[in-house]
Amino acid sequence: MDIYAKLKEDHDKIKQLMEKIGKTSTGATSTRKKLFMQLKNELFAHAKVEEAVFYTSIQSHHNLKEDVLEAFNEHRMIAMLLDELDTIPKGNDQWLAKFHFLKELVEHHVEDEEKEVFPKAEQILSDKKAEELGELMVQREQAVVEALRPLQ
Ligand SMILES: [Fe+2]
Ligand SMILES: [Fe+2]
Repeated sequence: MDIYAKLKEDHDKIKQLMEKIGKTSTGATSTRKKLFMQLKNELFAHAKVEEAVFYTSIQSHHNLKEDVLEAFNEHRMIAMLLDELDTIPKGNDQWLAKFHFLKELVEHHVEDEEKEVFPKAEQILSDKKAEELGELMVQREQAVVEALRPLQ
């Protein structure tokens, strides 16, 4: 699997998980909490490994400098919102409003990546390199998700 297919697979998984969370009722706090923890860890792992494996491989190209800075900034905003959402009680209406804000931000972010950054990266990375990065992304991300999984 090349890096683009791997990143898209993650994006789809994250979008599905966000849809599911958006449909939880305010009374179903334990379901919401469990799904949110999963989202937090997967999104964190995705963003960090995407930075280390994908973005660092393309960041020195003049055509991509702005895109890389924008992506890193959005990753930071996403991480801040995830932390905030973690501290707000899950049965609170404010939680759902903030969650929808995060959902829109993430959807916009992955659309930018898929429609603007990937086509530019395809011009720079060879097919062989894209395959290698895809494999590396799978391995590293698995290790991070595993490391973040709570013991109980
Ligand atoms: Fe990203
Ligand atoms: Fe991404």
